[in-house]
This record gives sequence, C-alpha cells and structure tokens, in this order.
Amino acid sequence: MATRDPGADEGQAFSRDIERILSALKKHKISVKGAGFIEFVDREEEARAILEGIAGTRPQMSYDFIVLYGPKGCGKSALFTAISSAMGDVGSDETGFEAIVASYERWERAREAVKILGSRGVFKALGEVLKELGISIATGSEGIVLSGLEEAASKIVRAIRYSEKAREYGRIFIVLDEVRVARENFDSFVLWLESFANDVRSANLAYYERKRGYITVIALISDAIAAKAWYRVGEKVGWALMWNLSRDASERLADQLGIGEDRDLLWRLAGGNPRALERIRSVGLEAWVRWSLRRVVTALRVFSDRWQTLFKAIGAVAENPDSLGLWYGNRELPLADRLLRLNVVTEIVGPPGPIAELPKEPWVGGEFAFQIPAYYYALKAILGRGGFNISSSDLVAEAERS
Ligand SMILES: Nc1ncnc2c1ncn2[C@@H]1O[C@H](COP(=O)(O)OP(=O)(O)OP(=O)(O)O)[C@@H](O)[C@H]1O
Ligand SMILES: [Mg+2]
Repeated sequence: MATRDPGADEGQAFSRDIERILSALKKHKISVKGAGFIEFVDREEEARAILEGIAGTRPQMSYDFIVLYGPKGCGKSALFTAISSAMGDVGSDETGFEAIVASYERWERAREAVKILGSRGVFKALGEVLKELGISIATGSEGIVLSGLEEAASKIVRAIRYSEKAREYGRIFIVLDEVRVARENFDSFVLWLESFANDVRSANLAYYERKRGYITVIALISDAIAAKAWYRVGEKVGWALMWNLSRDASERLADQLGIGEDRDLLWRLAGGNPRALERIRSVGLEAWVRWSLRRVVTALRVFSDRWQTLFKAIGAVAENPDSLGLWYGNRELPLADRLLRLNVVTEIVGPPGPIAELPKEPWVGGEFAFQIPAYYYALKAILGRGGFNISSSDLVAEAERS
C-alpha cells in the first residue's frame, strides 16, 4: 500500500485534479422522471474521500479493493455516474484518473450481460488488450458487453496488468455496480472477495513496477448482509460505508423535486434517502409509508411464534439500534440477520468505515443503523400496539411523536 504514496509533486497534481473534478461535480445534473433535470446534490465529502484514496493522498482510504456499501437507494450508483461525468467535463486526458464502470444492462433480468464504459484512453486500450489476450467480447451499442460482473472484473484487471501498449494511465479505478451476494451461497461471495482482492493486489505490483500506475477496484454493494463478510475477510479489503444524504442536502433535493410535505416529518420518515424522496414525489407519502411498513412487518412476522422474545428484542432495539448485536446469529431469534438480509438495517463495519458523517438520530447507532427511519418508526409502532395490526398513520404518528 505504501507504494501508492504519490510523493509531494505528484500529490499536489492529484489535489488539483480532485478540486477540478469536485467543481465539475457541483454542476452535474441528473434526470428524474417527471421532474426533468435537477441538480445532483452534495456528495462532495464522499467523492473527495474516494478520489484521495485512489490517488494515495489519503492513506486510510487507499486500498486495492474497496467494498462500498450502504442503504438501498442512498445514491451509490448515482455518485459514480456523477464522478465519471465530472471527469469527462474536466477532460479525460486532463486528470491523473481513469474510470471504468461495469454495470449490468438494465434490460438483462438474468444479470449476465455487463456493460463497460470508461474514459476514452483506457477504454480504447482495454478493447485492444482484451482482443490480444484472446478474451472474447461482444461490443454493444454503448460499450463492451461481457458476461457476469465477477468475470468481467477479472478480465479487466488482467487486461490492464498485461497491457504493454497502454499509455501511462495514472490511477485507474474500476467500479463494479452492483455486486450481489448470492443468498444461498454466502461462502462463495467471501471466496470471491478474498481471491479477487488478491488478484488486484498482484496486478498492482506488476503494473506499478512498469508504469507507476495503480488500480483500485470499487465494488458497490447494496445487500446489507455483505457486511457480515467483514468478520472473515477483514482488512484485506476496505469497507467504506456510504450513507443517505445529510438533512440539509435532502431538503435541497426535496425542494427540487417539489415535494410539499413538512420538512421535519419528511426527514423523520425518509432520512435523506434520495430514492425514497423520488418515490414519495411520484406515489405520495401515504403509499410510500405503507410500503415501508409492509417491509418491516414481513421481516418480523416470521418470528410471530416467539412473540415474547421478539417483543423484548425490539423494545431494546428501539432504545438503541446497537442492541441488535445481541441477536446476531442468535439461535432462537436471529433478528439482526433477518433485518440485514431484508435491507432494513445496515451494519457499520470498517476500516475505513463511514466516508461521511452519519446523522445523530435515534435510528442510527454506532454498529447498526436503520436504512430508512420509517423502518425504525414501524418497529416502534409495532411495539406500541403490541402487535402487527398497525396502519401507516400509526407509523406516521410514531414519527411525529418523537
Ligand atoms: N446526490 C444526489 N442528488 C440527487 N439525486 C440523487 C443523488 N443521489 C442519488 N440520487 C437519486 O436517487 C436515486 C437512487 O440512487 P442510486 O440508484 O444511485 O442508489 P443506489 O445506492 O445505487 O441504490 P441500490 O442500492 O439500489 O443500488 C436515483 O434515482 C438517483 O438519481
Ligand atoms: Mg445502485
């Protein structure tokens, strides 16, 4: 990892590049169905942390392989789309960074076809090297199409490693959006993480010697259960937590989306989750609250036959989300596992841990946090009623009360 340290001059050049990318990021617009083009809000801290980690100017963020995890819909994919677009605005040959973004084709239900986009220099060379290596690729209308994200990822890393012709790339980061944890096969996910992280490390040793370049792989993961792999894989990879928007940023987004709800209530329900705000805009608050409630009830109902224990457990969790740790892998009531699996809560692991400050709110602990506060208030409403027979207005009343 020490080899990534860019030294003073190069470090300064990276800092300048990062500032230029960040100012382009501020001007980035995104398109929202029904609302037209809106401003991409905030995320300066997150982008800075990621880019400095890639450059090597922030050692605690500098890993060969980073798992970037966080609540569903918190904006992981959008952030990297915005960063690569900002890099494009600055000019692809103008910065020391090159991006390759591999994502599943939207139409591809089987999750096989992978679309790869990249900044110009690296993208062209990548195609040539893949061909040279005899790796078959299909070229889609917008990019290279490979099969399976994991397979695509190793092919890209191999291609960069063996690329003799490629120009001096600088820092290449490869974004894998989004890596899924096979429910029935957690072990294979852990194995993949370990072995791929090793591949990237050894590719970097070779690549650095030849070019002084460095590859960073960033796997975007929204399966909260993935954080459990931290106990086995540990610091072989970096575990960076991205959270929902800050209160201030989420109000700016709500304003742009033209959401009329009371801002305080909106925060207590959506907690700055941008996808939640978009849904509230399109289906209305009540329908969205009902959907959130259903998710929590579905998560907890399987424990109905252990009601006494469940009641006690959710009582403690409502006091402090960290008490979920007591029911992690618990034989009688594997509550933490269930809430992680259904993406109701997120476990906070690290290092480096959170890449921006998490809000100090009752739904956020130091080890576990509810992905969306509405889930937390659903739990409290269930507790208050002593059962699952609650309505969306019970949930809202609970959020308003506290
Ligand atoms: N900073 C932002 N400003 C404005 N809108 C945003 C921002 N971040 C995300 N969004 C919007 O919120 C929605 C959810 O974002 P995105 O799909 O990136 O989340 P995600 O974390 O990748 O979700 P998943 O976990 O399902 O993969 C998107 O429609 C996106 O355009
Ligand atoms: Mg995503």
